Amino acid sequence: MKSLLSYPSRQVFGQRGSRSGGGAAPCLMLERVVDYCWLVEEAVSSAMGLLGWPWGRRGPSGFGARSTAEEVTAGVDATNLTAIVTGATNGIGKETARVLALRGAEVIIPARTLESGLKVKESLVDQVPSSKLHVMEMDMSSLSSVRNFARSFNSSHKHLNILMYAPPSLKH
Ligand SMILES: NC(=O)c1ccc[n+]([C@@H]2O[C@H](COP(=O)([O-])OP(=O)(O)OC[C@H]3O[C@@H](n4cnc5c(N)ncnc54)[C@H](OP(=O)(O)O)[C@@H]3O)[C@@H](O)[C@H]2O)c1
Repeated sequence: MKSLLSYPSRQVFGQRGSRSGGGAAPCLMLERVVDYCWLVEEAVSSAMGLLGWPWGRRGPSGFGARSTAEEVTAGVDATNLTAIVTGATNGIGKETARVLALRGAEVIIPARTLESGLKVKESLVDQVPSSKLHVMEMDMSSLSSVRNFARSFNSSHKHLNILMYAPPSLKH
């Protein structure tokens, strides 16, 4: 979605005040009309997008709120990619980890306890036997735990391609 501030009349007409002579006033008026039309068009298209969102209306990418991770990644080869997916022991993070593994990525699952991480790993391997999953300990509510995780990740992996932050609500 284009920003309301990115409308292009400056590109069409040049900078304000850069013109001189008697033709400036009509040109300025025309510029304002174009600005106004552009803003109306942007506002209408934003509103249409928001109205369509709850019903899963597809956007310009061809996907919408009801598109699944499998649909969105169909045909993607992620075999050379390394991903960290937070919140992957449950919910949207777990589904993200499953589909990245399905596409061949090596997926790191930071879990609050190794026990919960290994449990989800077992369940994901059942669904995607070719999964390359690693469980590491991390509690996102503790900065020292996050630092420890980052240190171990850096010492065991050469690169990180995808960081999926499926955040828990950090109030708990
Ligand atoms: N589900 C959806 O369809 C959906 C859609 C749009 C947006 N979201 C947003 O996505 C986020 C996750 O939603 P969800 O439904 O997937 O939630 P969820 O099922 O409750 O999962 C939360 C995940 O975060 C982990 N977690 C919680 N506190 C943690 C901490 N301190 N350190 C590390 N991990 C921690 C949990 O691990 P434990 O197993 O240790 O508890 C669990 O894996 C929320 O912010 C939600 O608003 C969800």
